Amino acid sequence: MEKTFSKTDAVTNQQEMYRQILEYSIENIMIHTNCEVLYLNEACTHFLRCTKERAHGSCVLDLFEEGTKKTVQNRVEQTMNGAEMPRKIEDIITRSDGTKVAVEIYCNPVMYGNQKAIQSVFRDITLRKEAERWMKDQDKLASVGQIAAGIAHEVKNPLTAVKGFLQLLEESHPHAYLTTMKSELNIAINTLTNLLHVSKPDLYEEEIVPIYLCKEVDALLLLFQDRFYDIKVELFLKDTEIYILGKRNLFLKAFFNLFKNAIEAIEGNGKITIEHFILGDTVHIKMHDTGVGIPKDKIKLLGTPFYTSKTQGTGLGLTQVFTTIIDHGGTLTINSHVDCGTTFHIQLPTKHHRSH
Ligand SMILES: Nc1ncnc2c1ncn2[C@@H]1O[C@H](COP(=O)(O)OP(=O)(O)OP(=O)(O)O)[C@@H](O)[C@H]1O
Ligand SMILES: [Mg+2]
Repeated sequence: MEKTFSKTDAVTNQQEMYRQILEYSIENIMIHTNCEVLYLNEACTHFLRCTKERAHGSCVLDLFEEGTKKTVQNRVEQTMNGAEMPRKIEDIITRSDGTKVAVEIYCNPVMYGNQKAIQSVFRDITLRKEAERWMKDQDKLASVGQIAAGIAHEVKNPLTAVKGFLQLLEESHPHAYLTTMKSELNIAINTLTNLLHVSKPDLYEEEIVPIYLCKEVDALLLLFQDRFYDIKVELFLKDTEIYILGKRNLFLKAFFNLFKNAIEAIEGNGKITIEHFILGDTVHIKMHDTGVGIPKDKIKLLGTPFYTSKTQGTGLGLTQVFTTIIDHGGTLTINSHVDCGTTFHIQLPTKHHRSH
C-alpha cells in the first residue's frame, strides 16, 4: 500500500526534528514560566542530577540559595513581562543530590506552545571560577613577593656592613663568639639573597649564555660528595652535547636546590637517579630520589614561597626552581609517592648544537 505524505506530516516531522535538536543539545536547557518548570532537556536533567518527572512542575527557585531567591524571582517576573534585562547572571545553585555548582545562566523569553515562558541555559563555570581564584592568589603572591623583596633589599645592606665590621673585629680582637655570630649572620644574608633571587630575579642582570646541563650537573654533584657514602647516584646522561640558552647561575642554583632536596629526603641509604635526554626540540631532565616522598595534598603547595616541612628550611628552594624553569620557557612536573620517592621532571626548550 502506498503512503502519501501530507503537509501536516511535513509539519509534524519538522516539529519532531526541532524537538530532537533541543532535547539532545549539549547545552543544559530548561523552559519555565514564572516559577514552574515546564521542560528540561536531557543534558539539563544530567546536570541538575534529577529526573524529568521530578523536575516537571517543580519550582525553579528551589535551585537557588535562600539569599538570592527574591532577586531571581524579580528577574524572572520582569523577563516574563517583557522588560529588558541583562541576559546573563552568575550564581550558585544546589542540584537535586545536594551538590552546589557555580553557573552562568542565560535567560530568554520564548513561546512554549501558546504559553509565554523563559528559556534558561545553565553553564557550569566551576573551572573558570577556579582559574580566577588562582590568578588572584598569584597576584597576591606576587605583591607579597615584591614587598618581601623590598624589605630583603633594605635589610641585606646593613647586615652586609655588620659582617664586614665583624671580620675586622675578629682580626683585631679575636673571640670565640665572633665565629658563631658570623656564621649566623651568613645564614641570614643567604636567606635574604635567596629571597631576592626568587622575588626579583631581574635584579641579577645575568648574561644569556649556552649552558651544557650535563656538565653542570656533574660538577654540582661534587658538592654533595660527603653524602654519597649512603646515597648512590646513577646518571643516565644522553645527548650530552646539547646546550640550552639561559642564565647559568640561576640554573646552578636551581639544580643545587633540587639535589639538596633529594638528599634531604633520603633518610639513611637511598638512590638518586638523574636522566638527561632530548626529544624533538625539548631537553628532558628527570631527577628521581628514593626519599620520603610528598603527600598528595602537599604537592600543590610546592613552589609557594616559604612552604617548608623542615625545621631548618626556608621554603624558598623550589620557588627558585620554578621561577628559573618558567622564566626559561620550560615546565616542571612533580610525581611523588609517600615512602617510595619523588621525581622532578624538567622540560626546557633547546637551541641544540651538535659538534662534529
Ligand atoms: N625531593 C623531595 N622529596 C620529598 N619532599 C620534598 C622534595 N623536594 C621538596 N620537598 C618538600 O617541599 C618542601 C619545600 O621545598 P623547598 O626546597 O622549597 O624548601 P625547603 O627544602 O624546605 O627549604 P630550603 O630549600 O630553603 O632549605 C620541603 O620542605 C619538602 O617538604
Ligand atoms: Mg630545599
